[in-house]
Amino acid sequence: MSERGPNPAGSRKRPIKPLALDVRVPAQPLDYSVLIGRGVIERVGEEIRQRHGGAATVALVSDSNVAPLHGAAVRAALERSGLQVAPMTVPAGEASKSAAALLELTEQLLRAGIGRRDVVVALGGGVIGDLAGLAAALYMRGIPVVQCPTSLLAQVDASVGGKVAIDLPGAKNLLGVFHFPSVVLVDPDLLATLPEREFCAGLAEMLKHGALFSPEHFREVVEAADAIHARDFDTIARLLATSVGLKAACVGRDPWEQAEAGKGRVLLNLGHTLGHAIEVASSYQLVHGEAVALGMRAAARVAIGRGLAAPELEATIVAALARLRLPTDLDVWLTGDLGDAVERLLAHDKKRSGGQVSYVVIARLGEPSVISLHFRELMALARQGTTA
Ligand SMILES: NC(=O)c1ccc[n+]([C@@H]2O[C@H](COP(=O)([O-])OP(=O)(O)OC[C@H]3O[C@@H](n4cnc5c(N)ncnc54)[C@H](O)[C@@H]3O)[C@@H](O)[C@H]2O)c1
Repeated sequence: MSERGPNPAGSRKRPIKPLALDVRVPAQPLDYSVLIGRGVIERVGEEIRQRHGGAATVALVSDSNVAPLHGAAVRAALERSGLQVAPMTVPAGEASKSAAALLELTEQLLRAGIGRRDVVVALGGGVIGDLAGLAAALYMRGIPVVQCPTSLLAQVDASVGGKVAIDLPGAKNLLGVFHFPSVVLVDPDLLATLPEREFCAGLAEMLKHGALFSPEHFREVVEAADAIHARDFDTIARLLATSVGLKAACVGRDPWEQAEAGKGRVLLNLGHTLGHAIEVASSYQLVHGEAVALGMRAAARVAIGRGLAAPELEATIVAALARLRLPTDLDVWLTGDLGDAVERLLAHDKKRSGGQVSYVVIARLGEPSVISLHFRELMALARQGTTA
């Protein structure tokens, strides 16, 4: 990580504060930077100019919530660098990660005359990052994408690592590729307009990075809860830099997700196995980060049940989730009809592996590992301690 000073050319409209961290993400030979800092979005045009001298037009892809809030400022920043802008807006929400939306977007790229040397800018949450990233990967066999994440989840997680995908009916993220961004601009000030629930959901992924790789980061996030909820963007920028650094180091060790089981990107699935089943069982009434929060509590229970972690781990996770205003009531999702639904979903997910699950646990904060167990044992261990 290196610190960069303010950039005078980018400070015409809004002063860029000195905190702009450059986290290099190794992805040989496609290493890229994640620039993190308040106001960093102002220099999107310059960053494109530096990397893609031949670019004339930028396809500015956003969603129907984000475009009216931030589209004009980003467009102006691009135009200041002499780039033409073709704005493209898709309906907000996961439904836009569809084959139909992907095709429509690539046709819009064609109609806008986007060429091989032009650039796609993805301005939005994880949905836009994934959809626009995949469109860029496929269009003309691949043109550059610049990720400008606007949700906390996308800033701390989805925009870093190069995975882009759409959903197939009943199969999330199934149609995708790796398409590394040429640069990622993480501007915490964009979070000012993010709804509270989405904001908290992103905190779950931040906490996850601490739980996996850094007890200090975990504690720092919890201790900063009041400042975070007050949207103190200096504090948030600092925490984002650490959290992105942790994710970048993980994906940098395993850019193509091929590392030995238990070593690479698979660790980032902490809380996701059961979390995903809970998210689906809730009919998406829980947002992804909320389900991951419950999944992390379940992972603590499983680790304790297997004798891998001390009994205090669950309480540590629960206290952290509560401070961050994330749900902690796991039992309701493991018992009764909901519990049956979660178990059925897990069974369906693991059908191809004979019911075996590769499951990420932590022995203590900062000490992840992957265990293999049957989904029935997983459910039994997660249910330990439930009262029903
Ligand atoms: N590629 C990856 O590595 C990766 C990793 C994690 C998640 N994902 C994907 O990311 C998606 C979830 O991302 P998400 O939670 O950002 O969802 P999202 O893109 O749907 O954004 C959540 C909501 O917040 C709104 N929003 C975003 N930024 C805003 C802002 N600044 N102001 C106001 N509203 C704003 C959006 O319009 C949307 O309604 C899922 O599709 C998931 O599969 C991808």
